Amino acid sequence: MLIIVGSRRNGNCFHLANKIKEAFDKERIHTEIIVPGNQKIHICTGCMDCDKDGICGFQDDMKNNIEKIKEEEYIMFITPTRWNTLSGDLKIFIDRLNPLYSRKGLRNKKMIAVSIGAKDEDLYSSEAALNDLISFAESAQMNVILDKKFSNCLKENDILNQENELNTFIEELKKKII
Ligand SMILES: Cc1cc2nc3c(=O)[nH]c(=O)nc-3n(C[C@H](O)[C@H](O)[C@H](O)COP(=O)(O)O)c2cc1C
Repeated sequence: MLIIVGSRRNGNCFHLANKIKEAFDKERIHTEIIVPGNQKIHICTGCMDCDKDGICGFQDDMKNNIEKIKEEEYIMFITPTRWNTLSGDLKIFIDRLNPLYSRKGLRNKKMIAVSIGAKDEDLYSSEAALNDLISFAESAQMNVILDKKFSNCLKENDILNQENELNTFIEELKKKII
């Protein structure tokens, strides 16, 4: 499973990714975490050349990322909720997946969608961000096999205080994948 973390701080998204990796390492299931915000990724110019040949002219870290995505069956996106939507880092990453679009390279891949925000669950904020991920999955013809939003996570470590919710989510994930 490839875990794509949408925040570049060592915060809630990254902690969740690490917890999942720890749990899956114990089960001897391969997981890899990538943080697009810490990589070299140009912003898509919208030239559409990749629609013709499936190749993007930029020579940057997306080449390697796309190779990894091609190989993985399970892809998890963890976004921090920002202004009710995805992080910019994640949107830049998603746009650069367009070389896979014309080749239907994401079709039938299994997506796990997670959003993490500071607000209360009933304020819709992280649900909106989660729905953006789910909407992307629809566009890419990926199957969302599990989705989850975490609320009340403002400071970097807040998610670590939601131990029950974290563990329940990891158990649900294991049931889907193992
Ligand atoms: C620019 C910005 C916008 C944000 N907007 C929202 C928001 O609309 N709703 C929300 O619940 N939290 C919002 N937050 C708070 C973050 O979602 C929250 O702190 C989250 O835990 C960040 O994840 P991280 O620790 O992995 O960076 C925002 C944070 C930033 C920096």
